[in-house]
Amino acid sequence: MARLLITGGAGFIGSHTCVVLLDAGHDLTVLDDFSNSAPVALQRVAELAGVQLRSGSGSGRLQLIEGDIRDDGALNQLFATASAKGEPLSGVIHFAGLKAVGESVQDPLRYWDVNVNGTRALLAAMESHGCHTLVFSSSATLYGSPNQVPIPESAPVQPINPYGHTKAAVERMLHDLSAAAPDHWRIACLRYFNPVGAHPSGRIGEAPNGIPNNLFPYLCQVAVQRRPELSVFGGDWPTPDGTCIRDYIHVMDLADGHRAALETLVSEPPQVLTLNLGSGQGASVLEVIHAFEEASGRTIPFTISERRPGDAAVTVADPTAAWQRLSWRTQRSLAEICRDGWIWQQGNPEGYDLDAEAA
Ligand code: NAD
Ligand code: UD1
Repeated sequence: MARLLITGGAGFIGSHTCVVLLDAGHDLTVLDDFSNSAPVALQRVAELAGVQLRSGSGSGRLQLIEGDIRDDGALNQLFATASAKGEPLSGVIHFAGLKAVGESVQDPLRYWDVNVNGTRALLAAMESHGCHTLVFSSSATLYGSPNQVPIPESAPVQPINPYGHTKAAVERMLHDLSAAAPDHWRIACLRYFNPVGAHPSGRIGEAPNGIPNNLFPYLCQVAVQRRPELSVFGGDWPTPDGTCIRDYIHVMDLADGHRAALETLVSEPPQVLTLNLGSGQGASVLEVIHAFEEASGRTIPFTISERRPGDAAVTVADPTAAWQRLSWRTQRSLAEICRDGWIWQQGNPEGYDLDAEAA
């Protein structure tokens, strides 16, 4: 099986996808600067997949290179070294990027630099080394406040924050690149809805720095009493129980979606595939709280507070195209999401134990 480059492979979605890809027989090189993760996540990936983690110039089934996607020189060296060893990189799954909406409003240039300029550097290195297969982490955030639900891929791209604008800009860049060399590029833009949960072993999961921005990790931290209570942002939305509805997708289903996208890209003619990865099922904030209480046996204290600026009442994917093009759809329920998220949080109440397992 071919060697793949996984940028941002130590992060939340990247680490779970690495397990799935290793299990599917791929050899991986992870490039990560650890700005929002730590090497311990990859040690645990290696443990779950039954392989050795090798750092730096070493080879093996899971190779780690610490570096920045914006570093043209390091990228060129990485591709050249892989080819010289007789293991050329045949494809890239590109997770590396910044993802906090509020931070993107405060520091937009950093977001444009890492997410857009970083992707430009990666694409330039791929092009000059003849690697033309890419799976890109896009986001449902680029639909902004959608006019129709469930949301098909044909819905207007109308982001409402700098983070969303960077994802839309990268999708545009990928279309331009493909238009310039349509016989070469095989690209999938995967628009994730709300990735949550954890590997069922509880060995890898989501470990946000500081106060979580997102519902699920916040809820998990309330459940282990790291935080006193959850604020539910608005109880007067036009939904059946007054709280917002989202499409939560188990991170292992999302990881399987990447494997399926890659397999489709390599087996079909060059193209740009743009697909929603979601379940097609909506759950309200109160439904998530209750499902988590059921899974954990804990009571989640919460209060209803003001609406959060920029939220939409309902975002749910139309996942039909992913089923048609990838034969992929979600397999895991909200109950399994909560069960696995709880196993991870209970076993790792403070996230990864960096002192005990420093690389
Ligand atoms: P994450 O922060 O856990 O993972 C991103 C990884 O990229 C981290 O390991 C980080 O250290 C690394 N990284 C960041 N900047 C880098 C750089 N300049 N060079 C090298 N490595 C760098 O995030 P995640 O939740 O796993 O998200 C992965 C991708 O999916 C991101 O592109 C994100 O925008 C996108 N996405 C995430 C969500 C979500 O809810 N988690 C939703 C939609 C899209
Ligand atoms: C958010 C981002 C989105 C990004 C996604 C994944 C915003 C407006 N949107 O999506 O661009 O792609 O994360 O990183 O930031 N909620 C609470 N209390 C909390 C946290 C959240 O009630 O403490 C509610 C929110 O109002 C929302 C739901 O829970 O209705 C889900 O929120 P969140 O997990 O932050 O995801 P999104 O807002 O859907």
